[in-house]
Amino acid sequence: QHVAVLMGGWSAEREVSLRSGEACARALEGEGFRVTRVDVARDIADVLGRLKPDVAFNALHGRVGEDGTIQGILEVMRVPYTHSGVLASALAMQKDKAKLVMAAAGIPVAHGLVVDRHEAAKRHVLPPPYVLKPVNEGSSVGVVIVRADRSHPPQEIGRPDWAHGDALLAETFVAGRELTCAVIAGKPTAVIDIKADDHVFYDYDAKYAPGGSIHVLPADLKENVYQHVQELALRAHAALGCRGVSRTDFRYDDRPEGSGQLVVLEVNTQPGMTETSLVPEMAADAGYSFGGLVRWMVEDASC
Ligand code: DAL
Ligand code: MG
Repeated sequence: QHVAVLMGGWSAEREVSLRSGEACARALEGEGFRVTRVDVARDIADVLGRLKPDVAFNALHGRVGEDGTIQGILEVMRVPYTHSGVLASALAMQKDKAKLVMAAAGIPVAHGLVVDRHEAAKRHVLPPPYVLKPVNEGSSVGVVIVRADRSHPPQEIGRPDWAHGDALLAETFVAGRELTCAVIAGKPTAVIDIKADDHVFYDYDAKYAPGGSIHVLPADLKENVYQHVQELALRAHAALGCRGVSRTDFRYDDRPEGSGQLVVLEVNTQPGMTETSLVPEMAADAGYSFGGLVRWMVEDASC
């Protein structure tokens, strides 16, 4: 079978995608597939028309790769592809819309609202502490935590060279722990507790620098909380209509003085597959080697 690994592209997560793509391409070669690495550009339909792959392995992250647009091209061209389809991809990437759907399905999400970034640069849009994030980026690109001890919201989001669009999602900051759980082949994986202690939260550097964070697998949680996280990951995957592998991120305030709140932050339809990424680790715990995981994803591809 000939597999085209789609990677790179031009989103803010291009470098992450190149790393995910290379790791997956190498693993697919190890499994005996014929692999073509495709750095996605605007002529992607012409490239796919020429290559005629049996399957497109989507290793893209962020805009175009994760937001339903490339999935639409693959549908029209009838090329089976990995991960979620058009609607789930578009929904999950638009964090505010995904939250509406999840809330309607009874899934707890953080209180928040969409604000214009120029407004957000001038005044507090929620009682601090709160989070400001682009509505449609990944890997924590552009995420800012606004704390009570700052008299003003951050000015950088008001700057003309801000590249992430004008709509920001403002959300109440849920202190405490950062948890994540994936769904593979219809089953929830183990829950990981992410400790990014040197960082204020699990930011870009904590995600991709070796040693940037510590992953505790299985997360040390009370049994009922652990199961609740797994159940919510499954429900979020189903509510958005995801396919193949997804990874749902949570925050859980278990501080003694905390609220006990457990909220879903977002569902990632194209979770990272780099050496420091979470899904390969969760898959290993579920009995999949990296090669076994990418093989299953190719076999599960559809259009
Ligand atoms: N957006 C990155 C790739 C992730 O969720 O893993
Ligand atoms: Mg994400």
